[in-house]
Amino acid sequence: MNGYLSFLDPVQKELDEVESAFKKAGSSDDIWVNKLLETILNSGGKRTRPAITLLAGKMFNYSENLHIPMAVATELLHTASLVHDDTVDNAPLRRNNKTINASYGNNVAILLGDYIFATAAETVCLTDNVRVIQIFSRTLRLLADGELREIDQAFEPSSGFSGYWGRIERKTASLFATSAECGAILGGASEGQIENLKKYGSNIGTAFQIIDDILDFDIEGSELGKPLGQDLRQGVLTLPILIYLDSNPEEAQGIRKLKTLPGEEKASNIQNILSKVKNSGAIEKSFDIAKTYAQKGIEAIETSPKGAPRNSLQSIAQFVIERKF
Ligand code: IPE
Ligand code: IPE
Ligand code: MG
Ligand code: MG
Repeated sequence: MNGYLSFLDPVQKELDEVESAFKKAGSSDDIWVNKLLETILNSGGKRTRPAITLLAGKMFNYSENLHIPMAVATELLHTASLVHDDTVDNAPLRRNNKTINASYGNNVAILLGDYIFATAAETVCLTDNVRVIQIFSRTLRLLADGELREIDQAFEPSSGFSGYWGRIERKTASLFATSAECGAILGGASEGQIENLKKYGSNIGTAFQIIDDILDFDIEGSELGKPLGQDLRQGVLTLPILIYLDSNPEEAQGIRKLKTLPGEEKASNIQNILSKVKNSGAIEKSFDIAKTYAQKGIEAIETSPKGAPRNSLQSIAQFVIERKF
């Protein structure tokens, strides 16, 4: 799927290696388990996180034996988190395919997610680097923490901006940060450079989630391959809604009430709120905020070694903002 992201050219060969290792990861000798695994591991995806790990490595001392497993592990962790996220969100569609929970039910999705998380853990151990393994484990904890907060804060406007930043830092930015940071650690970068890469990842991860939240508003060209308008339906109050509420605090009660409304009334109120938010300028403001995060990401690696890998990382920051999928 990433063949046409030409800014990834400097690591295209390595990404192909990641792809084939990823597709073979965790294969079982049970035919049915294998079929489930193949379904999910062959479902596509942009491979943004492994690309970041590889490029971070290429800026320093790239080592195939370390960076390929690290990149595969980050994508496995991401994949498992999507399987569980779709289960939690009761989502029917992902990457234009039926989700595991929709096809096989929640029990299978929980266990398959666990299976892939465990495979990610085994794979990261191939780096033989305890520091990296610890960061990786902490990231999984942060992801779960972010997702749990999302449930706790659903339909609750008082959780506000700080709730939002706390959630997206954990559920999304943390894995981007880890992808970049661990690529640098395994490349033998200095502590200062490791910190720069971590900052890069965290900032573009934040921008990435803001854009995801904007695209959920079905803005022109949205092609996420998953149902749109899902966030508010689940009570997830994303940046555009929070910006809108900031100028229209009297709407908070209506949002709180959504939780208990019957199906049809809920759906029509949601449509109503979504269109008010879209017409309020809040989407544009959110986009500007995402741009500032992407810019901070670019600046974070300004003192990192010059060259094609750094240019690609900066192009990823740009892509994160421009993407429609
Ligand atoms: C989707 O991530 C989940 C979010 C963090 C918003 P991606 O948009 O990276 O998903 P794929 O892997 O490309 O499908
Ligand atoms: C993305 O959560 C982060 C994780 C999967 C941990 P979302 O709920 O925002 O992602 P989408 O919108 O389902 O892709
Ligand atoms: Mg979801
Ligand atoms: Mg979710």
